[in-house]
Amino acid sequence: MKANDMITLALSKGRIFDETLPLLKAAGIEVLEDPETSRKLILPTNHANVRVVLVRASDVPTYVQYGGADLGVTGLDTLIEHGGGYANGVVAAGLYQPLDLQIAKCRMSVAVRADFDYAAQVKQGARLKVATKYTAIARDFFASKGVHVDMVKLYGSMELAPLTGLADAIVDLVSTGNTLKANHLVEVERIMDISSRLVVNQAALKLKQAAIRRIIDAFEAALPAAR
Ligand code: PRP
Repeated sequence: MKANDMITLALSKGRIFDETLPLLKAAGIEVLEDPETSRKLILPTNHANVRVVLVRASDVPTYVQYGGADLGVTGLDTLIEHGGGYANGVVAAGLYQPLDLQIAKCRMSVAVRADFDYAAQVKQGARLKVATKYTAIARDFFASKGVHVDMVKLYGSMELAPLTGLADAIVDLVSTGNTLKANHLVEVERIMDISSRLVVNQAALKLKQAAIRRIIDAFEAALPAAR
């Protein structure tokens, strides 16, 4: 088979993988191995010319932008961080974003300790220490409010930062709110709603148009709004 005939889809393990499976099924594509039990990073499907590659969630836009994958599914949060913040718009050269898949929905929020008076601090023009994995989104958000911040970059367990005095506030994803509650944090700002997006390599779309279009159309037809 010529490399040009192969369609490579980049997914990350967990919620995005699980919630993309029904969309793939609607496109007649079934992944033949379970990423939770297999150690393989390239998973075959029931179509000899379609494969799934498993990458870190934050690497999906990179794989698709530079052609390591033809298409991928990634959270809006990851996509905006990849593009350098929302002040730039949701753009990255060579990445076509045809669909909001309406899966893995959550929100990006600011949270603080329950005993921290965020509103008063903002009103006074205090400089806030903000811990987050999403530094571009956080920087743009606080800049748009005119709040000065010192950013502390973390890679996980953000909720710990206000509890240990590392930061006054965090910017993180909130879904049920249970993680915040369990750590005595409260949500004080909702920055944006998040869902997963389909991203497509623009050059691949030209070269393998028919096969990629078929997948985009099948995904689109399977979205809740289309049902
Ligand atoms: C996210 C986020 C919060 C949690 C929020 O972490 O960072 O910790 O989910 O969900 P909740 O509001 O339903 O409690 P995730 O589990 O995705 O892992 P992460 O550590 O990679 O961010």
